[in-house]
Amino acid sequence: MTKLEGKVALVTGGARGIGRAICEAYAAAGAKVAVADLLEEDAKETATALAGTIGGGMAVAMDVADPSSITAGVAAVEEAWGGIDILVNNAGIFNMASIDRITFEDYRRQYDVNVAGTVFTAQAVVPSMRKRGGGVIVNFTSQAGRRGEPNITIYCSTKAAVISITQSLALELAGDNIRVNAIAPGVIDTPMWDLVDAQFAEYENKPKGQKKREVGTAVPLGRMGDPRDVAAPCVFLASDDARYITAQTLNVDGGNWMS
Ligand SMILES: NC(=O)c1ccc[n+]([C@@H]2O[C@H](COP(=O)([O-])OP(=O)(O)OC[C@H]3O[C@@H](n4cnc5c(N)ncnc54)[C@H](O)[C@@H]3O)[C@@H](O)[C@H]2O)c1
Repeated sequence: MTKLEGKVALVTGGARGIGRAICEAYAAAGAKVAVADLLEEDAKETATALAGTIGGGMAVAMDVADPSSITAGVAAVEEAWGGIDILVNNAGIFNMASIDRITFEDYRRQYDVNVAGTVFTAQAVVPSMRKRGGGVIVNFTSQAGRRGEPNITIYCSTKAAVISITQSLALELAGDNIRVNAIAPGVIDTPMWDLVDAQFAEYENKPKGQKKREVGTAVPLGRMGDPRDVAAPCVFLASDDARYITAQTLNVDGGNWMS
């Protein structure tokens, strides 16, 4: 499969979890992949693992909550590969807190990474896409952005914001031949879900691992998702097969949410 041959992709949060699976799938589809992450060593490891693929990879140290770090990371990719065609705004963080335990600091951090990170990484990459005559942005929201959940007020609201940002940017950038879509995963087995499970264990007084089993069996398709289940539609959205699709949020959740 060489649907992304000749393309340069920047994947934020690419070091592990869903982001790593996207990096692997994009490189296998022929793209050159910049693995951008806070976790520098893991990003290097992921980029090294792409060496045998068609596209290959490079690691980029990037904190999407820090505009100067975004600028430096994007500049490094442009210098190495001449520009960027595809941006995957996958980096995200999760935290649970009931209304009496929400802190301003945590509120700010989740908004800085999940919302500002999405907007300002897009802002940094769009000039390069315009120069190249077009591009594709895939943002990461969640089923949590489709509906609120108790004790997850802040995370859910950041992901609802990403759906709205996707729609506005898609309309604004359509004339530049830049398509903007989002993916809303359901429950995907990644390091983030280990944290989610541990927090539910505390809030719902459950043994560790139980919440994970419960959410897996509740999925209509009967299991938690694997990161590769999300990477495949992410290849599709970045490819020319999706040339007439923009402003959409695609649910990749085994049937959890219908819209
Ligand atoms: N796993 C799920 O069930 C699930 C469900 C819905 C949505 N999502 C979303 O999918 C995306 C990926 O989730 P995941 O489960 O792979 O998470 P993960 O925690 O396993 O991986 C996230 C990656 O993002 C990186 N990251 C975090 N903050 C960053 C920052 N400021 N700058 C750069 N990189 C940063 C982390 O270092 C990590 O490599 C996130 O946006 C998440 O909200 C995940």
